Amino acid sequence: MDQPLHLMTPEARANPYPLYAELRRRAVCQVEPGGMWAVSRYDDVVTVLKDPKRFSSAGLGQSFLPPWLERNPTADSLVMKDPPDHTRLRAMVSRAFSGAALSRWESRIRDIAEELAEAAVRRQEVDFISDFALPLPSRVLNLFFGLEPAMALRLKGWADDLVSIPASQPSPQRMAEIRHSLAEMERCFNALIEARRTEPGEELVSELIRTEALTHEELLSFLFGLVPAGVETTVYLLANTMLVLSEHPRELERVRENPTLIPQLIEEILRYDPPGQSSLRLTTEDVVLSGVTIPRGSVVVALIGAAMRDEGRFPQADRFILDRENQGHLAFGHGPHFCLGAMLARMEARLGLEALFSRIRGFSLSRRDVTWSQSIIARGPLALPLRLESSVR
Ligand code: HEM
Repeated sequence: MDQPLHLMTPEARANPYPLYAELRRRAVCQVEPGGMWAVSRYDDVVTVLKDPKRFSSAGLGQSFLPPWLERNPTADSLVMKDPPDHTRLRAMVSRAFSGAALSRWESRIRDIAEELAEAAVRRQEVDFISDFALPLPSRVLNLFFGLEPAMALRLKGWADDLVSIPASQPSPQRMAEIRHSLAEMERCFNALIEARRTEPGEELVSELIRTEALTHEELLSFLFGLVPAGVETTVYLLANTMLVLSEHPRELERVRENPTLIPQLIEEILRYDPPGQSSLRLTTEDVVLSGVTIPRGSVVVALIGAAMRDEGRFPQADRFILDRENQGHLAFGHGPHFCLGAMLARMEARLGLEALFSRIRGFSLSRRDVTWSQSIIARGPLALPLRLESSVR
């Protein structure tokens, strides 16, 4: 009998890929924490993600509403819904994230990226997270919301508080902090919605109000859901890119010399070390997957990170290959919940890396030991001290 494996040990956080290889060997099995059912082979992960009837997202919202919280609109956000509710809401919000809508933002996102890259390169010794990777998506989301620039910093604090809710029982002081944070978010978003109703602008909230299709509560929940979805993952995409390139200097040289390779660099990073490592679902009936029966009412962890290293789907899956044809990676999910912000995230990463690589000859890690995030869903470094070598002598 195989020993149960644990997804959240420090070793597994630092490098989950050997553990994933063992999980793929076992196909489908229960893991710690919590006896969840881990699904790790490419085809099985696709099966889970594309079938909301048997693998439901509704119900998971409850973990964002523990008894010590009276209210949390995140529990009702888009990603926590099943069809037909999900289908209706998604149809109403998706236009705001389409290519046509995003192209209006490109030059403003480029300005933010250039400003951050310029400041970082001038500083030389940076924490890549707090000096670049975090401010970029925070300021972009802030722009989308149409909040005061100073609020960009609060977005990350809110996101951290939201994702910490489903974890273990917090101390009374943490509970008070989280309640305070949620109340602050709600006040801020209510004021924003109110202001945009009276005086519409061009940004996301005005656009969603103009559709007249969402109730106030639906709009509020959608905005709450964007806060954790829109910041952390993009931070880790940028940070993982730098970590991988620090071990592949030849590839860094190639993309610096030829920036048109940046989009394929981003796709291969998304496959090789995806920021979103898993998606959770609840089984609505007994389900047989790879010959194993998962009982009804089980929590299933679909391990995107493991599926991306499945040799059956990606030859030499453990190798980072810049020239790989990356059709079919699952870093943005699959099926009805496919990431709404995928196009935006790709644009942010591309503009961020273009701004940075055009200003540096190279870079080195100031420290090799990295502290990794503690979320089962998003994985990336919490800090990343780098020394940037300016290309201007
Ligand atoms: C590299 C960055 C990103 C990654 C790796 C990523 C990954 C994902 C994944 C894997 C899902 C599917 C979740 C599931 O099936 O349960 C998802 C959903 C979602 N993402 Fe992203 N995401 C990123 C950036 C963004 C950004 C920038 C936004 C918006 C500002 C965003 C908004 C959303 C939303 C709203 C959903 C829910 C869609 C639905 O349920 O229909 N994401 N994302």
